[in-house]
Amino acid sequence: MSQKRSLTNRKLFLDFYDKKLSEGQEVTLEGWVRTNRDNGSVGFIEFNDGSHFKNIQLVYSKENSNFEDFSHIRYGTAIEVLGNIRLTPEMKQPFEIAVKNINILGECSEDYPLQKKRHTFEFLRDIAYLRPRSNTFNAVNRVRNALAFAIHTYFQERGFIYVHTPIITANDAEGAGQVFHVIADPKKPTEFFNANACLTVSGQLHVEPFALAFRDVYTFGPTFRAENSNTNRHASEFWMIEPEIAFADLEDDMDLIESFLKFIIKYVIDKCPDEMNFFNTMIEKGVLDKLNNVLKTPFRRMTYTEGIELLQKAVKGGHKFENNDIFWGMDLQSEHERYLTEEIVKGPVFLTDYPKEIKAFYMKLNDDNKTVAACDLLVPKEGEIVGGSQREEDYDKLQAKMRELGNEEGLEWYLNLRKFGGCKHAGFGLGFDRLLMYITGMQNIRDTEPYPRTPGGLKY
Ligand code: 4AD
Ligand code: MG
Repeated sequence: MSQKRSLTNRKLFLDFYDKKLSEGQEVTLEGWVRTNRDNGSVGFIEFNDGSHFKNIQLVYSKENSNFEDFSHIRYGTAIEVLGNIRLTPEMKQPFEIAVKNINILGECSEDYPLQKKRHTFEFLRDIAYLRPRSNTFNAVNRVRNALAFAIHTYFQERGFIYVHTPIITANDAEGAGQVFHVIADPKKPTEFFNANACLTVSGQLHVEPFALAFRDVYTFGPTFRAENSNTNRHASEFWMIEPEIAFADLEDDMDLIESFLKFIIKYVIDKCPDEMNFFNTMIEKGVLDKLNNVLKTPFRRMTYTEGIELLQKAVKGGHKFENNDIFWGMDLQSEHERYLTEEIVKGPVFLTDYPKEIKAFYMKLNDDNKTVAACDLLVPKEGEIVGGSQREEDYDKLQAKMRELGNEEGLEWYLNLRKFGGCKHAGFGLGFDRLLMYITGMQNIRDTEPYPRTPGGLKY
């Protein structure tokens, strides 16, 4: 790294933990003022350059000839500070900086929206371009970063090949008709590609051919859904992790999901202790206990049919759902999923073997001819965070299903995979942003994405 750039907050903390920081050591730092207060003789600036979650306290006093100037530095100002380390092991902040001088690098005007008071998440969403400087969003984004790295680490350590599936595609992978169309000229919508182009809803169909060539693969990228669902868990653009494994069935798929989730949760707990402590005290009390419990406990596996029976029993016992009409074949609503994971299991649960009518066309038909080899992973407060399945490998069955739904055209290549050395294979999709909600305790998907896209919301 260039010698010219100043020391970072992160480096100071790392040196402190390594016991390399010494009393009186002179440092120059550049960063932003988070808060500034003084009592007339001593002043304190909460300072951060963004390289570490924790702020560093700058202390100035009447001994500084510029005391008055320093005390007028506004929140948000970019500064360069020259000072000396003062070790304060008995304090909440284990070291601080005795200021010798401060240079203003960038003034911050009076109408800066991030003043010291606690802001609502709605307010912060409205100033998405300044939100990265708020504590909560700063912590969310650091965990988001660590989580992305954890995902690659898990797969790379196990020999999975990372595949870049396309964003622009001609198929609706889930067959749910919730696609955004891609057109170059509104007057000639199909001319550019000579096809009905849309944004991908899932990389699955494009990653399956790679699994049938590389055995274990994954794709991890943005996906898009034109669902008009205004909930705290739905976004129009979100990231999805989609592994695909060959010579594997639904059991193997669930084993992979469980091992993968436990690995990345542990990774974040280990790598982001300051951020996770923040969430544990400020956002969801007990989130760390919750996650540590998840690490210790095997995930329950329950069939859809058992789930329906439990829900019917709940209704008989007097439980009131908004939709109380529980029958085999219904698509479960979030309240039903949440009942199973929150009240019955009190933790993550796999629901498996759903009725074929309510699941996607590519899922393997079970021997009962009624259900498919699918699994959803449900977690408390959110419901589904993973959807997975064993894929139909039988050419004739898959073709019959595609003909029934009328989506064979354009997907002949997908069908051909079953003819050219097809084998049993499985995979899943994990919603990255929903996972981040689960890990941080954040309650709205809009507060886990840098620039959320939701129906009616595209301000930035
Ligand atoms: O269950 P889904 O639709 O499954 C698929 O797309 C499969 N092709 C995956 C596969 O087998 N490769 O979506 C998977 C996950 C959901 O469980 C959920 O976590 C997330 O994607 N998801 C959303 N997240 C945020 N906003 C939305 N609108 C979402 N829709 C799905
Ligand atoms: Mg699903």
